[in-house]
Amino acid sequence: MQPAEAKARHDQLAEEIRRNDHAYYVAAQPTISDHEYDRLYRELLNLEQEFPELVTPDSPSQRVGGQPIDKFESITHTMPMMSLDNTYSPEEVQAFINRVQKLLPDESLDWIVEPKVDGVAVSLRYENGALVTGATRGDGTTGDNITANLKTIRGLPLRIEAGAGTPKVLELRGEVYMTRTGFEKLNFERESAGDEKFANPRNATAGTLKQLDPRIAANRPLRVVLYGAGEIDADFRPTTQDTFLTWLRSLGFRTSERVWHSGTADEVLAAIAELDSVRRKFDYETDGAVIKLNDFALRQHCGATAKAPRWAIAYKYAPEQAETVLRDISIQIGRTGALTPVAELKPVLLAGTTVKRATLHNEEELRRKDVRIGDRVIIEKAGDIIPAVVRVVVEQRTGAEQVFLFPKQCPECSSNVTRDSVGGTANVVWRCPNPDCPAQVRGRLEHFCSRGAMDIEGGGEVLIRQLADHGLALDASELYRLKVEEVAALDRMGEKSAQNFIEGIAGSRQRELWRLIFGLGILHVGTGVAKSLSRAFPNLDTLMHATEEDLAALDDIGPVIARSVADWFNNPDNSALVERFRKADLNFESDLFQAADKDGIFSGKTFVLTGTLPTLTRTEATARIEALGGKVSTSVSKNTHYVLAGEDAGSKLAKAEKLGISILSESMFLDLCEGP
Ligand code: IVH
Repeated sequence: MQPAEAKARHDQLAEEIRRNDHAYYVAAQPTISDHEYDRLYRELLNLEQEFPELVTPDSPSQRVGGQPIDKFESITHTMPMMSLDNTYSPEEVQAFINRVQKLLPDESLDWIVEPKVDGVAVSLRYENGALVTGATRGDGTTGDNITANLKTIRGLPLRIEAGAGTPKVLELRGEVYMTRTGFEKLNFERESAGDEKFANPRNATAGTLKQLDPRIAANRPLRVVLYGAGEIDADFRPTTQDTFLTWLRSLGFRTSERVWHSGTADEVLAAIAELDSVRRKFDYETDGAVIKLNDFALRQHCGATAKAPRWAIAYKYAPEQAETVLRDISIQIGRTGALTPVAELKPVLLAGTTVKRATLHNEEELRRKDVRIGDRVIIEKAGDIIPAVVRVVVEQRTGAEQVFLFPKQCPECSSNVTRDSVGGTANVVWRCPNPDCPAQVRGRLEHFCSRGAMDIEGGGEVLIRQLADHGLALDASELYRLKVEEVAALDRMGEKSAQNFIEGIAGSRQRELWRLIFGLGILHVGTGVAKSLSRAFPNLDTLMHATEEDLAALDDIGPVIARSVADWFNNPDNSALVERFRKADLNFESDLFQAADKDGIFSGKTFVLTGTLPTLTRTEATARIEALGGKVSTSVSKNTHYVLAGEDAGSKLAKAEKLGISILSESMFLDLCEGP
């Protein structure tokens, strides 16, 4: 393809991808299938590989760019990011409106009522149409530069198209959030990988934006909704909130799906009530309404206090809470041995369901809230999800309450519990270290059979407990030796359901390899990681023999996961289990594996190309590397083995030098290709 032709096609693809991102993430009306989208995206990447000059900063491929950083830089906001005063009753809202009217005695005021999105506030700065920086609120004056993480949000335009001129400076304020369904999926995935769950979507969002590696943010369901103005060119400065929001939408930004325009205090209160009745349908959590003066010039007259503007206020909805007695604290042991304290409650009605148990997360949480057995406690449905204990009603203590002693031994098998550190940070989770702990044995079997793993019908909690208690199956390989009569003889099992279960087990022999890898229950290995491993290795044997370094060199596997996987396979009990799976005839071959020549001289080696080579084109060099089993990556990191550098090599070369990576000229490279 000629460069001009490539450029035209690239423009077309980029435009189509942008349009679809907007349709999916902003308008919530997807127009093409995921498959079709992936195809467009791959074609774009291939073109950019061949014609690197097409990689512009606002190309859709640049959403996940760059390498992990050591720490965030600080950014000083050109206009402070203020917070809002809170109100909790209609009277306080009325008082607020009266206060503003008093500041503006001759004006007839109109108000905008918006959902108060419960996420993380951010400031976005576009210069000449391009997104240049994104920052957290921080202390209101200075925040963290989280541009790389924000760019991964596909609903956020990297460039704005303003027909009638583009502002030189356009700074916008908004809220990043995680969709409810995305949050639930993420937590499910974390739980099944043995990772600690996030308490709510806001924590998950904040935790994601704090990640120094943008690839993590790229894999999390973040969205952003805009509602405010920072520094904006005089010519483009908005005059009212409603015209501002309309303008933002025309530029491709997401704004709240509903806002109310109210003329009187009564209308404002009616809007607040109506918002309360519809807000649970939004895909973000809301904890209140924000009431803002519509007119920007009048806002200017009102001014601000040190902390918050005088022209706006938040109305907070009462969270759905209930008070009850905490009768006891029990300990649940997961399949990875994690000990989770659970509040056993006097049953109480909360948001339409009877709640008997609530999570206390971990020992640290328990101490922080000073929860004691016999306490009266307030429970809340965190975002209508899992009930949690919010606080103790300390005034109601009688003195008879008992401090809960977090067990030093596993309640199930009496092993001493341990608390290791993961990646240098102390872990808050206590674990039972005994792999034969009956609770872990049951947990592993259930996990193996679960829908997301080997998908064995009937392998639920009740049956698994019986199989384990009777010693019929103590690890997953033993499932494959079960006989119908043995299963049929168990409580509440008939011949027919035993037969179905055994057939389900037999059928699972042919499951895809990633399901087996996930089913092994390796710490930190969720379905996503299992699929990555299955793409990188042709079969379970090669995975089993991969070193920690081999694993860490894979694109989407970090050091903690690499260590966990290598440790798991290095444990003789686990390799014996794998051998029993082999004897039981389970499929070990990967259908996701993307072949590379494993015996090639560059097998396992990652190259980065930079600059212009004297004779080879980029495509030719890439083809040679891949043909010899190597991989080409776009950015230099400690996982890079060689940098192939030509003329005008830029920052990649400098980085490689800094990291002490071997740098090859074309002639050295061609020599290497010849082999030893
Ligand atoms: S306006 C100068 N509008 O609530 C005041 N804030 O409690 C700027 N928030 O820091 C805020 N939804 O993070 C505004 N529709 C909305 C909002 C909203 C959520 C957050 C924002 C702010 C916090 C104050």
